[in-house]
Amino acid sequence: MSSPQFPESSPVTDTSSRKSQFTYRHLCQLASFAPSCPLRVVAHIDLDAFYAQCEMVRLGIPEDQPLAVQQWQNLIAVNYPARGFGVGRHCTITDAKKLCPNLVAQHVATWREGDDKWAYREDAAANVASDKVSLDPYRLQSRKILQLIKETLPSNLQRVEKASIDEVFCDLSAQVHSILLERFPELRSPPPHGDLTGRLPRPPVVALNWMADALVDLDEHAESQDPDWDDVAILIGSEIIRDVRGQIREELRYACSAGIANNKLLSKLGSAYKKPNQQTVIRSRAIQHFLSDFKITKIRNFGGKFGDNVTSTFGVDTVRELLPVTLDQMKLKLGDDTGTWVYNTIRGVDHSEVSSRTQIKSMLSAKSFRPAIHTVEQATRWLRIFAADISSRLGEENRRRPRTINLHYRHDGQMKSRQAPIAQGKALNEQLLFDLSRTLLNQILSEGNVWPCMNLSLSVGGFEDSVVGNMGIGGFLVKGEEAQALRSSAKDPGFPILPGRQAAKRRRLDGAGEGIHRFFIRHNTTNDHNASETEDNAKGLEDLVPGDPVTGLRNGNEEKNEADGASSESSECSRCGASFDWPQSLQSHQDWHLAKDLHDEERGQSRATIHPPASARSKGPSGPAPSSKRAGRGGKMEHGQRKLTFGGS
Ligand code: CTP
Ligand code: CA
Ligand code: CA
Repeated sequence: MSSPQFPESSPVTDTSSRKSQFTYRHLCQLASFAPSCPLRVVAHIDLDAFYAQCEMVRLGIPEDQPLAVQQWQNLIAVNYPARGFGVGRHCTITDAKKLCPNLVAQHVATWREGDDKWAYREDAAANVASDKVSLDPYRLQSRKILQLIKETLPSNLQRVEKASIDEVFCDLSAQVHSILLERFPELRSPPPHGDLTGRLPRPPVVALNWMADALVDLDEHAESQDPDWDDVAILIGSEIIRDVRGQIREELRYACSAGIANNKLLSKLGSAYKKPNQQTVIRSRAIQHFLSDFKITKIRNFGGKFGDNVTSTFGVDTVRELLPVTLDQMKLKLGDDTGTWVYNTIRGVDHSEVSSRTQIKSMLSAKSFRPAIHTVEQATRWLRIFAADISSRLGEENRRRPRTINLHYRHDGQMKSRQAPIAQGKALNEQLLFDLSRTLLNQILSEGNVWPCMNLSLSVGGFEDSVVGNMGIGGFLVKGEEAQALRSSAKDPGFPILPGRQAAKRRRLDGAGEGIHRFFIRHNTTNDHNASETEDNAKGLEDLVPGDPVTGLRNGNEEKNEADGASSESSECSRCGASFDWPQSLQSHQDWHLAKDLHDEERGQSRATIHPPASARSKGPSGPAPSSKRAGRGGKMEHGQRKLTFGGS
């Protein structure tokens, strides 16, 4: 007898309708964090008004008290009560006080010459020339929060990636898998006939309890469908995250928001969707609905010229309008890789991994000078501070030691640097770093003019990886967590890593040790990108549109924060079209281009894969994929680069 619903159906059809759309193989993939698993559960956790909360917790300030974190005359973080008065990150301190007379404005801690430790100082705002911002207090809180997250999740089933100073990605797949098997014994039995392609039984039809989650509405056609295992999986993920957030709140008194979805792209959009103190769940059947209303340029990697090119090429503004464009049309206009990537991304497809195996590659302490500095004495004072800053951060890397030190300076519109090895065997302390940096400064001075100097920075790199091999995943995270933020952001916010590129990137990063061979070689270059590209990339990546909760990944970046007299005028990179809201962001981005050119030249190679910092937003998904305008110095195309054929050609 046919059922009335399936007048023509045979019993076979009827049976399959009671099967899940997912297979035993999908279930296995879940246990092994396979990025392409359709049951995958990824969460993104982002602290609300992070620096502001740090100050509130530190000072024991009541939750409803408006508070902003001040840096010189600007605000860099504004808590939600203050946002209620219209105070925002763009406000000056004067405007903010007008809007909210009751505002507590707490200046960030600073380093000051002569002190061997950063401190909160009453007079910091008036000392932009002599002080350097310290984000150490926030790093410390960040580290505690990360640690707690890792303690809350089962150690053998977690994958946690620090994405910036106040955000992490968690791949919850393996934990969800284990909870699924626990709760649904029917999933424990082996597939009939050992056939992994066989479909799973459907989950029991029970009302799923989403508690207080913000649920993104389902796609229209999907509303009538019964829940399948992907819904159950994401619900479990959501329970896990509610627990994690509860722990963070209870133990450390921080509020955060989270997005739970089946990949990083969506979970990141989800955490920004409802703030503060909320979590948003984007079920796979809700993805289209969720993404459709986004402006294309708000999607990660679609900012800047790249996004503009996509919108103008197809004459569209929103994701919804771009959806009807076929894959073939996309490929035709954007090239095969970029076209495919765009096609997938606007459909919420993202197979990038949550990677906990990130290690610090370099550390950088920097200061931009407006006005420029002109004397050795001035420079030396800053070297003292950089040495103290790096030395205190190195303390957290206890067992890993950098092998090289670089001094970078900006003179005459160019970033240049000098490198030296750090001799092993000696205690690596502030004094040693200071002495080495002075040696480098003397070298630079003996070779040419440095003054006026617009930027000075000290970095260490080439960290020994001696403990890497046998360290548990958990071990990495506590240690180079800052680096993790840097490296993750270098990789993540900007660049979709297309298949096959990840390994190349890893190899490149692993080349960190090569720098040591360049013993006192005169670089007409900026950075030793072997050692410091992660750091530099992160710098730039952070300078994404301030205040944009969707695309902007900002890591609490000192260089940016030292925006002395920053203006809000926007500027564009003439080489790749990336746009910046802060002139110094553009500057550091252009430094990156220069560094990369020199690096490529120096190494006599043509890798197209080192990612520019903020310009990431303006790029095609296959990395630089530059137009000829964006190619290396002199506009020449690098091997492996392809032209984007915007507008058809
Ligand atoms: N930050 C910064 N400079 C920027 C952007 C951010 O110094 N241009 C710092 C902020 O102080 C912030 C932290 O980085 O506290 C994290 O940034 P973000 O998550 O973007 O903003 P939040 O202040 O945490 O606010 P939200 O609640 O929207 O996440
Ligand atoms: Ca935040
Ligand atoms: Ca953030």
